Amino acid sequence: MKTQIFTILISICLLQILMAISDQTHETFLQCLSSHSQQTTTPISSITYFPGNTSYSSVLESYIRNLRFSSPTTPKPLFIVAATHISHIQATITCCKIHGLQIRIRSGGHDYDGLSYISDEPFIILDMFNLRGIQVNIEEEYAWVESGATLGELYYKIAEKSKIHGFPAGVCPTVGVGGHFSGGGYGNLMRKYGLSTDNVVDAKIVDVNGNVMDRKSMGEDLFWAIRGGGGASFGVIVSWKIKLVSVPEVVTVFRVERTLEQGGTDIVLQWQDVADKLDEDVFIRVVLMPVNKKTQKTVKAKFVCLFLGNAKRLEALMEESLPKLGLRKEDYFEMSWIESVLYWTNYPIGTPVDVLLERVPESEKFLKKKSDYVQEPIKREEMEGIWRKMVELTKPVLTLNPYGGKMSEISEVETAFPHRAGNMYKIQYSVQWKEEGAEVSEQNLDRIRKLYEYMTPHVSKAPRCSYLNYRDVDLGTNGIGNNASYKKASVWGTKYFNGNFDRLVEVKTKVDPGNFFRYEQSIPSLVTSVGKMAL
Ligand SMILES: Cc1cc2nc3c(=O)[nH]c(=O)nc-3n(C[C@H](O)[C@H](O)[C@H](O)COP(=O)(O)OP(=O)(O)OC[C@H]3O[C@@H](n4cnc5c(N)ncnc54)[C@H](O)[C@@H]3O)c2cc1C
Ligand SMILES: *[C@@H]1O[C@H](CO)[C@@H](O)[C@H](O)[C@H]1NC(C)=O
Ligand SMILES: *[C@@H]1O[C@H](CO)[C@@H](O)[C@H](O)[C@H]1NC(C)=O
Repeated sequence: MKTQIFTILISICLLQILMAISDQTHETFLQCLSSHSQQTTTPISSITYFPGNTSYSSVLESYIRNLRFSSPTTPKPLFIVAATHISHIQATITCCKIHGLQIRIRSGGHDYDGLSYISDEPFIILDMFNLRGIQVNIEEEYAWVESGATLGELYYKIAEKSKIHGFPAGVCPTVGVGGHFSGGGYGNLMRKYGLSTDNVVDAKIVDVNGNVMDRKSMGEDLFWAIRGGGGASFGVIVSWKIKLVSVPEVVTVFRVERTLEQGGTDIVLQWQDVADKLDEDVFIRVVLMPVNKKTQKTVKAKFVCLFLGNAKRLEALMEESLPKLGLRKEDYFEMSWIESVLYWTNYPIGTPVDVLLERVPESEKFLKKKSDYVQEPIKREEMEGIWRKMVELTKPVLTLNPYGGKMSEISEVETAFPHRAGNMYKIQYSVQWKEEGAEVSEQNLDRIRKLYEYMTPHVSKAPRCSYLNYRDVDLGTNGIGNNASYKKASVWGTKYFNGNFDRLVEVKTKVDPGNFFRYEQSIPSLVTSVGKMAL
């Protein structure tokens, strides 16, 4: 009994000491941050959230888009700086260097494996959501977009000023510009205009020494690296200058579903033959999922199209190239480009476009994703095997996105994003679930890993390529600490970047030799890495 009370007393004392220490560290940090940032209308202390501040949890959770990383056991940041000014970013970098803390940079928080807001080292979050200004210049056909803006906000702002301009980027409007642009960024304009990154013409970045640089002062190597190489290995990207692209006043969309019993396999095979070779104005995505029809388990294929032209032209094109889909006149809908953005997000036709300004997605889920590239047609028997595997695993959804068009015209070395000519389509594997718990989580991770394993013979090899923005830590990580090994990193690095990995390592070594900007899949610096001689 006595010892118990004693233990409790000791614990209380310890707790008080810890709290006192942490109070003191808060003070120290805040002092450091204040003294290194400019006196703006928003003092940095008013946008810095410690665990003791009442809004710490809500700020943290506001941009977590995968419930797997929102549990009590998820590592939490020591504090969050929600910068409203460039000098807040500079101060955060400087003070984290002084105090030996890691920074996680978060824009929209859509990283599939949560790397923008979790870490195994003591860390803080530099949150960009307050920096989300968008300036659109229609006359000169460009825009400056801050990293904390969402794609939906960007699309909205463009469409507000012009009916015949758009921008090639992702389909989900809540995705953040910061991660998306720096990792590539594709959507249904990709076959006509390439990736977001292919349409970036300038950027503003804060480097490890707190210098603010644009394209000219950062130089072409770093500007190359942040277009597809992931921003967070190199610095904090504050804003992007993008080239707007033309869209017609009227575009056409369709969305139809076919099960295997309705000829699904034949249609997918025909789609596979033509999807990457069609006119660049056509983009047809296929979403494949196991479904239960009465007592029968089958696979459903959903075909979703954006066409940059009117219904009449699309009808003729479909009859010629994809007749097996059996489209009827009623399947085609003509609308403006901005309405097509809503259609692709599954909003009912007629939904007011200002839903694009909503920053919170409609539903939150537990999820895991993976990706592959298909370079050789998958044969009928192989496809039927995949359907059986999907039905057996019950959960996984496959999304097939066609390449070709502009994607094949841009060289592999033009930007850090390497997956260009030779790729027919990309597969995204996805499992989502709603129930909490380690067991259900393991079951789902197991499902997607088994499917990925099963797909090995049908996809790109040596390296088996992956899309950086479909973050997948199963591909390997650097391990913890400053001691990233070149060898370890090259395993996942060549999958994401192919032959561009070594150039990314060179740029990293030049701009951040001490590897301050690091995370589980950051580009290693040769100065601090193991396994390759320093330059
Ligand atoms: C629902 C959903 C739909 C998606 N749809 C698409 C799609 O259609 N097309 C597509 O290509 N991808 C899509 N993605 C993937 C998406 O492009 C990536 O997750 C992207 O990295 C998200 O950017 P973010 O700013 O929201 O993410 P964050 O999680 O904030 O950041 C992702 C990575 O970028 C780094 N980063 C973020 N901001 C900065 C910055 N300012 N400076 C430097 N580094 C930074 C982070 O540290 C992290 O490493 C989707 C993801 C989700 C969850
Ligand atoms: C959080 O609390 C600290 C005191 O610990 C205070 O200085 C700071 O201003 C608070 N932050 C916010 C955003 O209110
Ligand atoms: C890094 O790793 C190498 C080899 O594993 C080891 O020799 C070295 O001491 C490590 N350095 C640090 C700073 O941990």
